[in-house]
Amino acid sequence: MPVKTIIEPFRIKSVEPIRWTTRQEREQLLRAAFYNLFLLPADDVLIDLLTDSGTGAMSTRQWAAVMEGDESYAGSRSFDHFRDSIQEIFGYKRVIPTHQGRAAERILFNVACKKGDVVPNNTHFDTTRANVEYVGAEAVDLVIPEGRQPSLKHPFKGNMDVAALAELIENTGRARIPLVMLTVTNNSGGGQPVSMDNVRQVSALCRKHRIPLYFDACRFAENAYFIKLREPGHESKTPKQIAQEMFSYGDGCTMSAKKDGMANIGGFLCTNDDSLAQLEKDLLILTEGYPTYGGLAGRDLEAVAVGVQEALREDYLQYRIASTAYLGNHIAEQGVPIVQPPGGHAVYIDARAFLPHVPQDQFPGVALAAELYLEGGIRSVEIGRLMFGGAAKMDLVRLAIPRRVYTQSHIDYVVEVILEVWKNRERIQGLRLSHEAPYLRHFTARLEPVERAVAR
Ligand SMILES: Cc1ncc(COP(=O)(O)O)c(C=O)c1O
Repeated sequence: MPVKTIIEPFRIKSVEPIRWTTRQEREQLLRAAFYNLFLLPADDVLIDLLTDSGTGAMSTRQWAAVMEGDESYAGSRSFDHFRDSIQEIFGYKRVIPTHQGRAAERILFNVACKKGDVVPNNTHFDTTRANVEYVGAEAVDLVIPEGRQPSLKHPFKGNMDVAALAELIENTGRARIPLVMLTVTNNSGGGQPVSMDNVRQVSALCRKHRIPLYFDACRFAENAYFIKLREPGHESKTPKQIAQEMFSYGDGCTMSAKKDGMANIGGFLCTNDDSLAQLEKDLLILTEGYPTYGGLAGRDLEAVAVGVQEALREDYLQYRIASTAYLGNHIAEQGVPIVQPPGGHAVYIDARAFLPHVPQDQFPGVALAAELYLEGGIRSVEIGRLMFGGAAKMDLVRLAIPRRVYTQSHIDYVVEVILEVWKNRERIQGLRLSHEAPYLRHFTARLEPVERAVAR
């Protein structure tokens, strides 16, 4: 009989201790952090599921490559490794390194967009939306209607609504749409994949109107694996072949290598447009660095060059997708409302359904995230009203799984804590804002329990 258990496809060579705190300590820590888990010291977190960004464990091959880093200011050999590895997968002519994804976004939108423009995306991630809006353009989310219904199961809930995109192009006019973006997988919409068929349709529409198509490629490998698992005709292809085909339908991408680049820092911007690339490099030199390092050390370029290839390994992707589904399915079986099916890098709890007694303007997602910390020292993040303000379509709590970091027993612990909170959900109260910044307010916002705010 073939063995069915999917195991971590690695063994552990170096360990990092984690620290327990008491509930009483966590109550104090939470108050000191103004109920915003971004403001907690990481040492006071037991299981950190705040993000899968830059929090992964690098492999022995990546660490070996780090030692090969060429730190030359210009013409570094490490840049050649970086560019060649990326081009093999992504296929774009120009590869511009940046220190992380948002730097690629800032450069792209500064160069390609102007005030009054409109940028459609399946769902903009927060930094993507902020960078579009910063240049005075409008960020429009056009995910399919199924993608907005958390409990509904659909294999490709990250798909773009092609009819809505056609209508937007018709009404806005091609001249005001400098590019269309597809986020693979769709992080803010629940880590849900985009199908190859949808990529083809969006690409055909963009080509018809001569609008460039860009990928927000952060989780391209996970998206490729979902296509292999769920889309007929792709079963026998490798994740790399699928990724190559997907990118062939576009004109460029932004990428945070802190996700499927398997690195702790890094990113890049790709394009097939030479004149755009020139403008992008001019801006890069002003703010990031020379085009053969773009704000990264040579060793970081080496880590990414190896990492993007490792992210496409089938044994890794099988374990990755299975372990996320394990967490999602175990809590969903007990009634916890989650975005279905579980995403690639994260499980998203539907906080509005979890806490129906907490009004939306009292941040149910932030309140639930705070309770998970109180109960078990778990750090998660709200993706909802605090992050997106009135534009939020859902209030989700994201439990993002760092790559190659936690074992099955850590995940079993997380399941137990969530189920305990689920049992006592009625006593969780809402929060209100006491301080907010003008941009990306969720990173620094301060909140307080509604009851206390009223009593003062
Ligand atoms: C879909 C998506 N796009 C862009 C970014 C921004 O990348 P970075 O954090 O490297 O700036 C992220 C980060 O989480 C993301 O998930």
